[in-house]
Amino acid sequence: MATLTFENIHGSAAEPYLSDLARLRIRVFHDFPYLYEGSLAYEEHYLQTYFNAPESLVVLARDGERIVGASTAIPLHYEEESLIAAFRSKGMDAMDVMYFGESILLSEYRGQGAGKEFFKRRLQHAEEQGKKWAAFCAVLRSDDHPLRPSHYQPLDPFWQSQGFAKAEGMIGSLRWLDLGEKDETLKPMQFWLKEVKSLEGGDHA
Ligand SMILES: CC(C)(COP(=O)(O)OP(=O)(O)OC[C@H]1O[C@@H](n2cnc3c(N)ncnc32)[C@H](O)[C@@H]1OP(=O)(O)O)[C@@H](O)C(=O)NCCC(=O)NCCS
Repeated sequence: MATLTFENIHGSAAEPYLSDLARLRIRVFHDFPYLYEGSLAYEEHYLQTYFNAPESLVVLARDGERIVGASTAIPLHYEEESLIAAFRSKGMDAMDVMYFGESILLSEYRGQGAGKEFFKRRLQHAEEQGKKWAAFCAVLRSDDHPLRPSHYQPLDPFWQSQGFAKAEGMIGSLRWLDLGEKDETLKPMQFWLKEVKSLEGGDHA
């Protein structure tokens, strides 16, 4: 089993990794439940928000020199208004929230703890930035979706094990191009939340 190494980088220091991040996102999000028909133009626009935010975090996972995974976080106030509005509707201030963008790992490296390491590093960053909440959202697909693989296992139990809970009734939307579609469509996204507490107490799983 290959040993992975991890590195935290912030803001514009992540810009040289644009093509690595785009390649990983397009590869991993091609699969259910994302079914993302990626394009470099979409990736450049999406990732620029992270490069522009000095307090964003990109965690890189490497096998030797090769980047095989990544995970991101950004203070919510840098994000687009539609995302911020979902939190405002629940009485939450964008300044209090560290938003987790994604965790992506090539499938052959899964199951050896990288997902937990990504959460640990992002939660530490949320705490260092003085945020009260860590949040992310996950796409909702129907149980009988025609492209759902029979062996598909939702990540809900993993997210719960990391201390996150579904924010009941907090459903947003994000837009992307699904595989085989001609136009981008809005996807319903379920928000998940975790209260950020001091790491000194060893609270984080
Ligand atoms: C999310 C992701 C980065 C996690 O990486 P990982 O290597 O699986 O993470 P870990 O090894 O830390 O495992 C975390 C938990 O996931 C589950 N898990 C790991 N490998 C699994 C597998 N092959 N099948 C099903 N569940 C698995 C386990 O519950 C595991 O916890 P455990 O070790 O206590 O049993 C990776 O699965 C991935 O890239 N998935 C596709 C993209 C995605 O859905 N990202 C999340 C939303 S952006």
